[in-house]
Amino acid sequence: MGEQICIFGCGYVGLAAAAVLADLGHHVVGVDRDAARVLGLNEGRPPFREPGLEELIRSGLGSGRLSFTLDGAVAAGRSGVAMIAVGTPPSAGGAADLSQVEAVVRLIAAQPAGCELVVVKSTVPPGTAGQLQASLPSREVVSHPQFLRQGSALADMLHPPRRVVGARSPEAAERLIRLYARAPEVPFVRTDPTSAELAKYAGNGFLAAKVSFVNALARLCETVGGDIQDVVRVMGLDSRIGPDFLRPSIGFGGSCLPKDTLALVTLAREHGLAFEPGEATLAVNAAQPGWFAGRVLGALPPSPVVAAWGITFKAGTDDTRSSAALAVIDVLQAEGATVQAYDPLARAVPAGVRQCGSALAAAAGADAVVILTEWPEFQDADWQQVAAVMRGRQVFDGRNLIDPDRVAGTGLTLVPLGRGAALKEERVCGPW
Ligand code: UDX
Repeated sequence: MGEQICIFGCGYVGLAAAAVLADLGHHVVGVDRDAARVLGLNEGRPPFREPGLEELIRSGLGSGRLSFTLDGAVAAGRSGVAMIAVGTPPSAGGAADLSQVEAVVRLIAAQPAGCELVVVKSTVPPGTAGQLQASLPSREVVSHPQFLRQGSALADMLHPPRRVVGARSPEAAERLIRLYARAPEVPFVRTDPTSAELAKYAGNGFLAAKVSFVNALARLCETVGGDIQDVVRVMGLDSRIGPDFLRPSIGFGGSCLPKDTLALVTLAREHGLAFEPGEATLAVNAAQPGWFAGRVLGALPPSPVVAAWGITFKAGTDDTRSSAALAVIDVLQAEGATVQAYDPLARAVPAGVRQCGSALAAAAGADAVVILTEWPEFQDADWQQVAAVMRGRQVFDGRNLIDPDRVAGTGLTLVPLGRGAALKEERVCGPW
C-alpha cells in the first residue's frame, strides 16, 4: 500500500522525488513557500525545464496521487513520511545555510502527529541529521541524499547506481526502502546518517576534482604539445579511472559541484583540517573562465564583438546558476568586448549582452565565436554559413565540442582546449 508523503521544497530534487514517488503509487503532497510555483505546479507547469517532468507531474495530478500546497502544517499532519528537499545555499563563509531545513523541522516538530519518518534529501553537512533528530525526539530522522543530475533527474531518481540510506534504526531504514518497492531494483547502501551525508559531499567533490584535474591537464597539454582528447581517452579506458567526467571545459558550474566542494573545504577548516584536494579543485575552477576569456581577448582586436554560444552551466537545462559561461562573459565584457549570445534554453542573458534567436544570428558580425555550453546543436552548425556571416575568423571551443574536420576548409580557425598537437599536425604518427 502506498504511503502518504509530504515533500518540502519543490526544486529539482523535491519535484523529481514527488513525481516519481507518486508514479510508484504513493500519495504525495509537494510543499513550497512560493505561491506562484505552487499554483503553476497544480496546473501541471513545472518552474523549470527538465525532460519528462511536466508529463509525469500531469500524470500524477491526473491520478489524484500528487498535489502541491503552501500549507506545510496541514500536509505534515496528514503524512506518515516527510521529505526535506529545500535549498542549502552557501552562507557568506562557505558553509551550508541550513535555515530552510531548520524551518521545516520546526514546522514538523509543532505537529502533534504525523511524519513519523523524516527523510533528509537536502545536501547537508555531516552530523546534521543527528542534530535534527534532537529537535524531533518522537520521530526517526534518516539521511537519504540524492545524486540527481539536471537534465536526467527523473532517470537518475528511478535508476540510480545506488540508493543511500543513513538511519539509526533498521525499522526506519526498512520503511524508507519500502517506498521504492515498485521501482527498478538497485543496490541500497545502508549506513549511519553522518556517513550518508558525507558521501554526498564526497561524490560531488570528487566529480569536481576530475573536471579540474582534466582542465589543468589540458593547459599542460598546450604547453608540452599533447592532445588532451587522446590523453583522457587513454585514462578513461582504465576501469579504475573510468571514462566519465573527463571532458575539458571552461569550468564546472551549477547548483551542486561548486557549492558542495566549497562546503567540504569549509567543513574541514571548521574542524581544524585542510581539505587540499578540494582547495586545489576550486582554485583551478575559479581561474578557468578568466584564463579562457584571456586567450580569446589576446587573439582579437581591441573592443571586439564576441558571439557567445551557450549560457547555461551545462547542456540540457535552462539553469544558469554558477555557470562558467556567465563568468567568461563577465570577463569579456569587463575587458571591453561586446557580447551577443545565443542559448537554446536560457531564459535571460546578463545585462549588456544582446540575446540572439539563433547561433548564426549571434555569429553575425562577430570577431570570434566562443563555445561556452556543450549544446549538441552547436556540433551540427553549418560552418560555411557561420564563416560567411562573421567578421573575424576564430572559433574558441571552450568545451572541445566541435569536430575540427567540420570546420576545416571554411577559412575559420578552431581553437580548442589542450589540443595543440592535434591541430598543428605535429603528430608523429596515428591516430589509426
Ligand atoms: C551534479 C552531480 O553530477 C549530481 O550527481 C548531483 O546530484 C548534483 O550535481 P549537475 O549539477 O546536474 O549534477 O551537473 P553535472 O552533469 O554533474 O555537471 C556539473 C558541471 O560540470 C557542469 O558545468 C558541466 O558542464 C561540468 N562538466 C561535467 C565538465 O566541465 N566536464 C565534465 O567532464 C563533466
